[in-house]
Amino acid sequence: MDLHDYDDVAENYDLYLDVMSKTENAHEGFQDFYLDFARQYGTDGVIDIACGTGAVLLNLAEHGIMADGTDLSEAMCRVCSEKAHAKGFDLNVFPADMTSFKSSRKYSCAIIARSGFMHLTTPELQRAALLNIRENLADGGMLTFNTFDPHPFFQAQQMNTKDTDYSLRLEYVNKNGRREKIYNAISYNPYTQIMSGNWKFETLDDDGNVVDERIRPVKMRQTYRQEMTYLLELCGYEIVNVYSGYHKTPADGSARDVIWCVRKV
Ligand SMILES: C[S@@+](CC[C@H](N)C(=O)[O-])C[C@H]1O[C@@H](n2cnc3c(N)ncnc32)[C@H](O)[C@@H]1O
Repeated sequence: MDLHDYDDVAENYDLYLDVMSKTENAHEGFQDFYLDFARQYGTDGVIDIACGTGAVLLNLAEHGIMADGTDLSEAMCRVCSEKAHAKGFDLNVFPADMTSFKSSRKYSCAIIARSGFMHLTTPELQRAALLNIRENLADGGMLTFNTFDPHPFFQAQQMNTKDTDYSLRLEYVNKNGRREKIYNAISYNPYTQIMSGNWKFETLDDDGNVVDERIRPVKMRQTYRQEMTYLLELCGYEIVNVYSGYHKTPADGSARDVIWCVRKV
C-alpha cells in the first residue's frame, strides 16, 4: 500500500498539488520542460509513465501532442481519463507497472514526470523499469526522469526524525468542499537510501474542528548520481543531459534535484 493506492488521494491530488505549486514553488517550470522534450523527441510517439492524474499528459494534448499515459494506480488512471474526456481528448491511458508494462507500439519519447521514478525503492526495481522502458522505446528513443541526490544536510535532519514527527505542509479545499490540512512526517535511512514518510490529512468542519483523519504512507528512494550513471550504462542508455531543475541549469556537484535525459543505445 502506498499513498497512490487510495481513491481519495487520486481525487484530491490536483487540488492539493495546485496549492503546493504556489506555496512551495514545487517543480517550477515542469510543464514547459516536458513540452519541449516531447516536441524535440516525440515525433514517433510519446508515453507519459506514472502519469498520475495527467498534469503533463493533458498539457501535451492541449499543445497538440496526443501521448499515451500509464500509471500503477487505477484510481489515478481513472481520474486522468475522466479529465481527458472532459476536455474532448481520446487518449490511451492504462494502468500498469513501469517495471513490466508492454505496449503494442514503440515510442520515440518516454517521460516520467515529477518524481515518479523515485517511487521505485530498490536498485532492482529501478533496473527493471529502465530495462522495461527501453523495450518500449524505438531505437534512439529518449527518456527523461528525475532523482534526488542524497544530500548530507537533509540526510542529517531526516535521520533524526521518525515517520510520525508531523509538521504542517499545507491547507487546501478537498473535492467535497471541505478544508483539509496536510501534515508530513519523513525519515531517511542512509543504508537503503529510502525516505519513509506519512502524509496525514485532517478534514476540518466549519469551526476548524478535526472531523476526519487519514494517514497515507509513502516511500521514495534517493539515488547517488554515480550510481545512476552506472545503472543507465548497464541498462543500455547513454546520458544526453543532466539538469538541476526544470530550467535546464546543468547539474553541478551540489545539485539535489537531478533531471536525467537519456537515449536508448
Ligand atoms: C508524484 S506522482 C507524479 C504523477 C504525475 N507524473 C504528475 O506529474 O502529476 C507519482 C506517480 O507514480 C505512480 N507510480 C508509483 N510507482 C509506479 C510504478 N511502479 N509504475 C507506474 N507508476 C507508478 C503513482 O501511482 C503516482 O501516480
